[in-house]
Order: sequence, then structure tokens, then C-alpha cells
Amino acid sequence: MQLIKVSDILVKSRLSLKESGIKSWNSDALLLLVKVCNLTKEQIIFGRDLEIDEVVAQKYLEAIDLRAKSMPVAKIIGKKDFFESSFVVSQHVLDPRPDSETLIETVLAIYKDQNQDFEILELGVGSGCLILSLLKLYNNAKAYGVDISQLALETAKKNAKNLQVDDRINFVESDLFSQINQKFDLIISNPPYIPTKELKNLDLDVAYDPIIALDGGVDGLDFYRKIAKEAKDYLKKDGKIIVEIGFEQHLEVKDIFGESGFLCIKESKDLAQIIRVLIFSLC
Ligand SMILES: C[S@@+](CC[C@H](N)C(=O)[O-])C[C@H]1O[C@@H](n2cnc3c(N)ncnc32)[C@H](O)[C@@H]1O
Repeated sequence: MQLIKVSDILVKSRLSLKESGIKSWNSDALLLLVKVCNLTKEQIIFGRDLEIDEVVAQKYLEAIDLRAKSMPVAKIIGKKDFFESSFVVSQHVLDPRPDSETLIETVLAIYKDQNQDFEILELGVGSGCLILSLLKLYNNAKAYGVDISQLALETAKKNAKNLQVDDRINFVESDLFSQINQKFDLIISNPPYIPTKELKNLDLDVAYDPIIALDGGVDGLDFYRKIAKEAKDYLKKDGKIIVEIGFEQHLEVKDIFGESGFLCIKESKDLAQIIRVLIFSLC
């Protein structure tokens, strides 16, 4: 079997991604080499004469080809790191975004005792990256994870099992609260929040995420209206709601929750200093 020098294939792949207009060509070519060929970064960087066989090289080139067509790395390798865990992803779920880690950090800042037992509901679990990260952090928490997409729930269930928290979460196929019959200490959601007309202008990468995970209606705020309207019936006394929001949606989302009797008690910014998360409690 023919052997191919890793340093040669990496140089060619980087060039190919760069020419295809992939901004992160340098790191993506390396990351795909690590993930697809099961090598460490150190092996690649320091192993000038390192070789792989042609079958593995072919697999790598196919992955580079997909990335050149803008498929995100996570969708190619079927995995994405989020917070402290690795999540299986599929075409049916939004790729976990680093910005969404702001929501986890916000929960940690508010609920400081990680041994407390509390019940959490997530509306729109997708891969499960938010609720499952919280269950890993809070050993005594229990959760319900809701999604309208049965296929997304299947991915979330796999992740719950992989992370060994499947005994503390119930997954329910539900249109927001429609199949939920109990109250929670905390409701979290990163709902679809992109205005419908902006969907066609999104980066090519985002085109690989399911529309159902993105489309927030005419002004992007439909889900906040629906959640705010019903949430009080599903919150225990002193319960809180924490939502992720899109760029510059904070004033409108605060108004929406305000009209339903909620007060914004804290807002958190992401790494780009954009207000990304709002926390509400009942007035
Ligand atoms: C922006 S994604 C968030 C996924 C995940 N929580 C995350 O942060 O990566 C929104 C999720 O809401 C789900 N969704 C859309 N409409 C819904 C509805 N009416 N009821 C429940 N879930 C819904 C989508 O399927 C998608 O998984």
C-alpha cells in the first residue's frame, strides 16, 4: 500500500481550503487531519517524516473536499466540543456554538451551589449541549429536554447516554410547553432567533444547520413571545428563565418578557462583548 507524507498532504489541503475561500483554512486542515486520521497535533507538527496510508489519506481528502464546500468541521466529523464535553452532532441539530457557553457560565454564576437539587426544563434541546452540560455540572439536578424535532431528540439522547446523565433527563417531543405538565426551578432556551428574511444571507456554514433551529419568524422574536406568554405556568416560586438572544435583541426581548410580568435581573455578554443571555424572574 502506498504511503503518503503527512506534511505534504497538509500543505496541499491548506492551499485547497484557502483557494475555496475558507477563512479558517489553516486550523481546519490541521483539525481534520487530527480527527479523520486519528493523529495528535504534536505528531503532525513534530513528525516531519510521518506517513499515512492511502486509504486514510483518501478519507482525509474527502473531508477536505466537504470543508471546501463550506460544510462545517463538526458536521464532517460528527462531533463538536462544547464547554467541557464532546457532543455528537447530526444534520438534524444546530452545531453547538461557543457563544452559547455564555448561558452555562451564567447559570454557574447564579446557582453557585453545584450540589443543589433543582429541576430544569430546556425548550429546544437540539444536540443537548446546554442541558447536558448543566447536568454534568450539577450532580443532583434533574431535567426535561423538549424539542419539536424527533430527529434532534435522537441525537440529544445519544449524547445523554455518552455523558452518562441519561438517568436524570426525560426527553419529550413537544411544541414548546405543549406536552409539559409540571413546574421547574429553571427554564432555559436558546430558541431560533434569526428573522426569516435574513436566513438567505447567512454564512454558507450556517446553511448546514436545520432551518427549524434558526427561523425565529418575521422579526426573529416569535419564540420569545411564545415562551414569555406561557412560562409563568411552568415555573416554581422564585423560578427563573434564562434565554440566549441574537445580536441587539436585548431591548425587545426584555420588553416582551416585561409585558408578561417578568423582570430582567441580569444580562451576560459573550466573548465578543455582545449581550447574549438574559435572566428573568417574576416581578
Ligand atoms: C437554536 S437551536 C438550539 C439548540 C441547542 N439548544 C443549542 O443551544 O445548541 C433551537 C432548537 O429549537 C428547536 N425548536 C424549534 N421550534 C420548536 C418548537 N416549537 N418547540 C420546541 N423546540 C423547537 C429546534 O429543533 C432546535 O433544536
